[in-house]
Amino acid sequence: MRGIDLSGKVALVLGVANKRSLAWAIADALGEAGCSLALTYQGERLRKNVDELAQKYPGAPVMACDVESDEQVEGVFARVEKDYGRLDVLVHSIAYARREDLEGEFLKTSRQGWRIAMEISAFSFIRLTSLAVPFMKNGGSVMALTYVASQRVVPNYNVMGSAKAALEHAVRQLASELGPSNIRVNAISAGPISTLSARGIKGFSGMASHHRRLAPLRRNIEPREVGDAALFLASEMASGITGEVVHVDGGFNIMAI
Ligand SMILES: NC(=O)c1ccc[n+]([C@@H]2O[C@H](COP(=O)([O-])OP(=O)(O)OC[C@H]3O[C@@H](n4cnc5c(N)ncnc54)[C@H](O)[C@@H]3O)[C@@H](O)[C@H]2O)c1
Repeated sequence: MRGIDLSGKVALVLGVANKRSLAWAIADALGEAGCSLALTYQGERLRKNVDELAQKYPGAPVMACDVESDEQVEGVFARVEKDYGRLDVLVHSIAYARREDLEGEFLKTSRQGWRIAMEISAFSFIRLTSLAVPFMKNGGSVMALTYVASQRVVPNYNVMGSAKAALEHAVRQLASELGPSNIRVNAISAGPISTLSARGIKGFSGMASHHRRLAPLRRNIEPREVGDAALFLASEMASGITGEVVHVDGGFNIMAI
């Protein structure tokens, strides 16, 4: 227990692929603070990983959820209702763009590539939040994971930069709409961390070493640091914070050169 106690609260965390996933770092930080968990994975090939990780939190439901399937998305909330009947924290840690849209010229982005990246990485956040709200009767904390490429040009990030810009806009728009219900909506902008998705971006290791050299803290961040920021945002310690993009990047975003 790290000083924040989330006993009696329930968090739904979407996007665990394996033990390196930021979703897992967040789920584990929330779980260690006493929060009850519900976890999702995308597709059978990831099920075993997530089942194994979830053993640390007996009773936590582990559900299939591909955000392109309305049926699966609705099924997740039906299960949350059945198992817990409430929700306090929603964590969206999901992003996808086709490999060919994460290299080469942004100018060549296809309609289909744009649609897929936007739908999975940004629209799903709006949809999931809309389904979570009815369960957040006593208020809540909703968060998404973003990256500095929403604001600045990062080579090869291409269409995912557009998706993150849309996601950050959605954070502000939803924060404005849900504030009166005491539901806070924020984003964590993480520095580069070697995960399954990150390794799909061409030149990722160069990006991470550039970050190490330039960031004021002169290092890359650890998944645990993202988990800790999420724990803070989920807690009453952050009761006055909404519509914010919290950078967990060693200060990289403040630098010009
Ligand atoms: N790793 C980094 O450097 C970094 C930096 C900043 C932000 N982020 C963001 O953090 C979030 C989590 O990524 P990660 O780095 O932990 O990688 P990850 O690969 O562990 O997680 C990405 C998750 O998205 C899920 N996903 C993809 N398409 C989906 C779909 N159709 N339906 C449901 N789930 C789907 C994957 O199954 C996976 O669990 C993403 O939003 C990513 O953009 C990552």
